[in-house]
Amino acid sequence: MKTMHIGKTPLVVSRLAFGCMRLSDNRREALASIQTALEAGITFFDHADIYGNGSKEDVFSAIWEAVPGLRDKIILQSKCGIRRRGDPDPTAPTRYDFSYDHIVRSVEGSLRRLKTDYLDILLLHRPDVLMEPAEVARAFDALHAAGKVRYFGVSNHTAAQIQLLASCVRQQLVINQLLLNPLDSELLEVGVSLTRRPLLHRVRGDGTLEYCWMNGITIQAWGPLVGGALSGNLPAGADSRIVEAAQVVAELAAAKGVSREAIVVGWLLRHPAGIQPVIGTTNPARIRAACQAVDIELSREEWYRLFVAGRGGELP
Ligand SMILES: NC(=O)c1ccc[n+]([C@@H]2O[C@H](COP(=O)([O-])OP(=O)(O)OC[C@H]3O[C@@H](n4cnc5c(N)ncnc54)[C@H](OP(=O)(O)O)[C@@H]3O)[C@@H](O)[C@H]2O)c1
Repeated sequence: MKTMHIGKTPLVVSRLAFGCMRLSDNRREALASIQTALEAGITFFDHADIYGNGSKEDVFSAIWEAVPGLRDKIILQSKCGIRRRGDPDPTAPTRYDFSYDHIVRSVEGSLRRLKTDYLDILLLHRPDVLMEPAEVARAFDALHAAGKVRYFGVSNHTAAQIQLLASCVRQQLVINQLLLNPLDSELLEVGVSLTRRPLLHRVRGDGTLEYCWMNGITIQAWGPLVGGALSGNLPAGADSRIVEAAQVVAELAAAKGVSREAIVVGWLLRHPAGIQPVIGTTNPARIRAACQAVDIELSREEWYRLFVAGRGGELP
């Protein structure tokens, strides 16, 4: 497994991260997924307080007994800030909450469930429209000073939202975790569409990738396998764009003698910003197939072929 640095930190981690959102709640099955990831060389594990309402952090903690001495050899990331409908009372809607109390309470819950004293990285999960940057700064300071969180970052944030937060927060923001794959490539779209097409999904695509890259904020890609849509799990009624992109993936995989997962994930690795895909498969064979991505390199032509197919049209 190849490695990379997270942001401007000294943390050296595997080129792929393992997403724990879909871990089985069955301890034996969950351990099989985690151990396959470890054997493939993955050292970075992504959680959130809300995954399975905390059950995924809980089941993950079985790994400490299964693999003694592991804690300091891996990087544990969790997220906070999303609150589900009905929490804490029945009229409360799904919402975002970056208040001091919620951030601190959430981290304490994650530490308890993960059975660890510290998170290596804490991300704010989705932007809170009512965020008060000074209050977030106070929560980060308290968590950092108590040794409960080493590094901080965000997820699904625009460049401007990161700048606003960074103007108050004392710690570096080291990660922005964003949706990115060949079928959801709006982050790249803005860079090729200024000449002709109307700009779609303008806000998220508008300079966020470039901002993170320029400022040493590692971009993590969630949803990197598109749920398997391009690698054997074509959705019923898939439109011609998806069918064609899946065909390109199949052709490239056959030509290179690798798995289709390797092509889809390799497409993200080929971007020069040093994107870290967070793979979400829990199937051991698919975990190994995705990890083949670090051993291939797509040519410029191959990369653009999949980009064009995935965006559903030739470039201007
Ligand atoms: N920051 C955020 O807002 C956010 C949002 C969503 C997710 N995430 C993180 O990103 C990680 C990855 O996200 P994701 O799970 O949506 O991404 P993904 O890797 O694109 O998708 C994984 C899902 O696709 C299925 N799949 C893949 N190939 C398949 C195939 N050939 N046939 C059938 N099923 C197939 C997997 O099932 P199997 O397990 O059976 O292979 C799994 O359910 C999550 O675990 C989480 O850590 C973050």
